[in-house]
Amino acid sequence: MSDKNIKNEKMEAIVSLAKRRGFIYQGSEVYGGLSGTWDFGPLGVSLKRNIMNLWWKMFVDDREDMYGVDAAILMNQQVWKASGHVDTFTDPLVECSECKSLFRADKIDTDKCPNCGKENSLSLPYDFNLLFNTHVGASWGSFEAPAGQHLKGEIKVVDNETRDGVVKVSIKEGDTFNGVTVYEKDALTYLRPETAQGIFTNYKNIVDSFYPDLPFGIAQQGKAFRNEISPRDFIFRSREFEQMEIEYFIDPANWEAEFSKWVSLVHDWTKALGLPEENVHELEVPEADRAHYSKRTVDFEFDFPIGREELLGLAYRTDFDLKNIQDNAGKNMEYTVKGTNTKFIPHVIEPSFGVERTIMAVLSTAYTEDEVNGEKRVFLRLPEHLAPVKYAISPLLKNKPELVSKAREVYDILKKKHGNVTWDDNGNIGKRYRRQDEIGTPYCVVIDFETLEDSMVTIRDRDTTVQKRVAISEL
Ligand code: GAP
Repeated sequence: MSDKNIKNEKMEAIVSLAKRRGFIYQGSEVYGGLSGTWDFGPLGVSLKRNIMNLWWKMFVDDREDMYGVDAAILMNQQVWKASGHVDTFTDPLVECSECKSLFRADKIDTDKCPNCGKENSLSLPYDFNLLFNTHVGASWGSFEAPAGQHLKGEIKVVDNETRDGVVKVSIKEGDTFNGVTVYEKDALTYLRPETAQGIFTNYKNIVDSFYPDLPFGIAQQGKAFRNEISPRDFIFRSREFEQMEIEYFIDPANWEAEFSKWVSLVHDWTKALGLPEENVHELEVPEADRAHYSKRTVDFEFDFPIGREELLGLAYRTDFDLKNIQDNAGKNMEYTVKGTNTKFIPHVIEPSFGVERTIMAVLSTAYTEDEVNGEKRVFLRLPEHLAPVKYAISPLLKNKPELVSKAREVYDILKKKHGNVTWDDNGNIGKRYRRQDEIGTPYCVVIDFETLEDSMVTIRDRDTTVQKRVAISEL
């Protein structure tokens, strides 16, 4: 079997385990799904929270120079005009004249259609804007087609004259709309495509409230939305996902040194996740491929089962965003160095982490197959601090009330102490171990008849399968 097939098999095994064991489900699955959306089940939520909390602890709580914010997802449309997203946040879209499939031109060989195989059937690329439009409030007025929006087919609009009938209008590219709804143009906005702008728009608030010394950072975690042309590879490229971002405000004179510090902090982060260093790679992004705002970008790539792909990005965003706000909102974004008259607009180093890609890197690192007593075993070698469940507590036999009662006692003690503790009395002990292995529980604790005598339990290690007796008080 080729290396690629083995890797794809691994990916499929992870997707299937994630669904079967309640980590990640397809979004709206009961209605046939909605492409590019995913729902986290109980274990997925725990894993995700453990990762996000670890990030927050490492980059916000444990530092003196970091300020957290949680900004609204809906923002004034001017934010996205000034940031350049309305005009330039596009991917090249091509359509096959034969099967009508749509593709992202920079991700395929455009000589022939990847779906039907017809040669020279793909259109010239069209700049497809990835912003999701939405409208704020109930209002009437004229319609403004957002720049770069790919309009085709039929939409339903409300007649402007009568304001009650729903009429259907056929739209071709470039069409204008007269005498029909739609929404007042000021009401148009977008689901945020990055959390970063919620940080930039609060920069002045943080400076006014806290007057921090430079350099300092503002951090945010939250949802981001992109109308990706081809969502793919499980949660790797979704239309709704979560980001953890920092804008680190600096004196431009120091940008190179600050950038280097962040390169090494990112490596600290991947190590804290337990990702093998040899699977994390730095890619210096050439100017032509950098985002419009970046003067230097290093992508941190990871060897996923689907291949080497971007895990997170580190960009030198200069004063692009604060300057845009100053120019467009007319508010002074200068920072005054304490005790001096020196003023300038700070520059920014931006580490930007995708939560779903982090989860995918953690899961694919943890996914392990081995053999125990001649039988194939699948287990997740998750770091203890990320595992959704730390201890699984079992009475040896579930029909012996004295064992169940002692096991409940142990469960209550550990639940209070650690929180992420589960009760498992289903099937025989071997089956319980396999079930817990599969979700990455590091320790299974079994209460047997001896426990009633000596208050010692059997604790079994997930990775080595070694069992030993320890006192309940030591857990
Ligand atoms: N504020 C900068 C920014 O958003 P980006 O490289 O477009 O930069 C940052 O995105 C990170 O967000 C990526 O490295 C990736 O981890 C994650 N990300 C971006 N698009 C994604 C998508 N469609 N699905 C899942 N994660 C995504």
